[in-house]
Amino acid sequence: MDRAIGVFDSGIGGLSVLKALRAELPHEHFIYVADSGHAPYGERGVAHVRTRSRAIVQYLVSQNVKALVMACNTATAAAIHLLRAEHAGLALIGVEPALKPAALISQTGRIGVMATRSTLASAKFRALLDSQAGQATFVLQPCDGLAHAIEHSAETGEMSKIIAMCARYTSAMGNFGPEKDKSDTLVLGCTHYPFARKHLCALLGPGVTLVDNGAAVALQTRRLLQIRSPTGPEHSPGQISLFTTGPAQTLQVAARRWLGLPGPVGLLSF
Ligand code: DGL
Repeated sequence: MDRAIGVFDSGIGGLSVLKALRAELPHEHFIYVADSGHAPYGERGVAHVRTRSRAIVQYLVSQNVKALVMACNTATAAAIHLLRAEHAGLALIGVEPALKPAALISQTGRIGVMATRSTLASAKFRALLDSQAGQATFVLQPCDGLAHAIEHSAETGEMSKIIAMCARYTSAMGNFGPEKDKSDTLVLGCTHYPFARKHLCALLGPGVTLVDNGAAVALQTRRLLQIRSPTGPEHSPGQISLFTTGPAQTLQVAARRWLGLPGPVGLLSF
């Protein structure tokens, strides 16, 4: 069997990236690890995120993956430079908040950015922000608790917390809309947030564009691995293996609901 591509996140958020990867690379096999037993990452110290990222990368490398996608903005910001140094030769792809695409599409030049506290405080994010100086005004909003609420909702179906947090955080960023002086674009800088897209759209109205990096990461993965688009019956759909360090049910329900994946979930105990 062809080697799989490893994908990991602090929890179920990276499924938004896996969805884009599957759409772009339908014949590839994927191993997804949700570190739900040690989430959320965004409000923990950088040391915790680095330790966990190292452990998961180690596990995925032991599974002989041919590439590894860090489907977590927080882990990418805290650890990708260390992991690249420690695993020279491993194709390691990270995610970062989509400031550049947002600046290209914004008409008002004012852009909201939702991300974890840890991502926004990182040197990597600061460098990204500096690289966009003069392109647009970015209004940064740390969203404490939102990834956790999304994680929790997968199992319980409880949406009221998510809706209340989305309302609180978007109103803290000022006015949204297509008119001058308002933000017409919102960057979803955490891979959990696309799963709150419908609530955010309802709050902000049709004049605001929500941007995430899932599709761009999938395209980058294709390019890096130089995968061409095979066609024809000899190419069967790739297999997806799901693992978690937390409750199996959370990942199982989320994978079924968001990606239509019925598969079993394996438990990891490191
Ligand atoms: N999904 C992760 C990200 O993209 C973080 C969520 C968390 O706080 O654990 O940043």
